[in-house]
Amino acid sequence: MNFNYPIKTIFKHEITKLNHNLLPHDFNAADKRTYRAASDVVIAILDEMGIASAKAQGLLKPITSWDKLRNSEHTVYILVDREDNGGNGSVVGLLKIGKKKLYVFDSDSECHESVALCVLDFYVHESKQRMGCGRKLFDYMLHEENVEPQKLAIDRPSHKFLLFLQKYYHLHDVVPQSNNFVVFTGFFPERMSNINDSYSGSPHRMSTGSPKYSPGSNPYHNTGRHTAYKRESTIGQIIHSSPV
Ligand code: ACO
Repeated sequence: MNFNYPIKTIFKHEITKLNHNLLPHDFNAADKRTYRAASDVVIAILDEMGIASAKAQGLLKPITSWDKLRNSEHTVYILVDREDNGGNGSVVGLLKIGKKKLYVFDSDSECHESVALCVLDFYVHESKQRMGCGRKLFDYMLHEENVEPQKLAIDRPSHKFLLFLQKYYHLHDVVPQSNNFVVFTGFFPERMSNINDSYSGSPHRMSTGSPKYSPGSNPYHNTGRHTAYKRESTIGQIIHSSPV
């Protein structure tokens, strides 16, 4: 995606992390005017890439925008091609992640409370898909966040994304959930399936005193992606049906 601005002056590396501070941490503006111009460009990048991602996923509302980012603790990784667009640089993809408190079921249908690192939005521009850009972005994020792919919760992954996860990270055993997140078997520590173990890590099995979780009553369903338009398919359909 091209912008009428030399974006490589803002994005000094192929992949850059953005957060609620908006501009990359290594961006130095010569003056206020440059600072404002760069800020406007980054806002346009987040908003336009967010819209393009939503379109690609068949969502009516974007998951990613500057307005959403500035009011969150989320991180957006931006992949650019610094030499594209006549040397000005172009934006290739985005990957948004963030921590969320989730109630997740393990393969024994035990419910656990977990603060999980979630993949919230992932998009590579149509002109650059299936060229390894998604892999580059995802691997970079895994390294930066120091997380293994199976420890991530994925918010309503598209068919393409599920194939991507299968291909590169061998993630195929989905543990069914009652919310919109997908987790794979490795998400849970092995000992967790033994009910007599007192496991001290995260996620935590809900104690008897915890509020009762019932399928369909996800307390987080009114946040983030869940306020957006939802495709009618269930997670099962997404996994087994044709691509979106
Ligand atoms: N059809 C089937 N599989 C695909 C497709 C496709 N059109 N595109 C990517 N994949 C999967 C395949 O496993 C593919 O391997 P293959 O070409 O050997 O079949 C692999 O991804 C390619 O890997 P990369 O080139 O590294 O990935 P890419 O740069 O295409 O990025 C992404 C993957 C982000 C899923 C991209 O296809 C995309 O933007 N899709 C549209 C938006 C989308 O679905 N985003 C995920 C939404 S869910 C969420 O964000 C939580």
